[in-house]
Amino acid sequence: MDTGSDTPNTSDTSGTQGPATPDEIRARIRSEHAQISALLARVEALSERVGEDDTEAVIALREELVALGEVLLAHLHYEEYQLPSLADEGKVGELAEGMRREHQAQREIFDSVIRELDETAVGSKLVVGVRELSRAIRDDMAHEEREILSEP
Ligand SMILES: [Fe+2]
Ligand SMILES: [Fe+2]
Repeated sequence: MDTGSDTPNTSDTSGTQGPATPDEIRARIRSEHAQISALLARVEALSERVGEDDTEAVIALREELVALGEVLLAHLHYEEYQLPSLADEGKVGELAEGMRREHQAQREIFDSVIRELDETAVGSKLVVGVRELSRAIRDDMAHEEREILSEP
């Protein structure tokens, strides 16, 4: 039984139909950022622990990276679709362009980390790759939260 809804909702479209409101878009992006941040923290911790010839750790890291990648790629896609609608008028083109660049960089770094993982599995190289990925993702999230998601 659902006893948690004590506020009447007169505009409920059951979540899957109808355009999302700016508040809903912001809330979803913020919650995905929190999820990505948690997944990143796991990947970072694991990458620091990969030693020489540590196949088990490499496999574990790859699994975590793939899990991160699924959430990350869906998130980038959602933002490309919805974020421009949150920009001030006259800034939509600029925002969309900057976002595309940052997202493309994240996709490329992600692919290259996976490639490195499959080709070399050298611990120190992985740490560098994961740090680069982490910085690109976290910078983008911080930038978005500052410029687009902060309430007036
Ligand atoms: Fe983004
Ligand atoms: Fe984002």
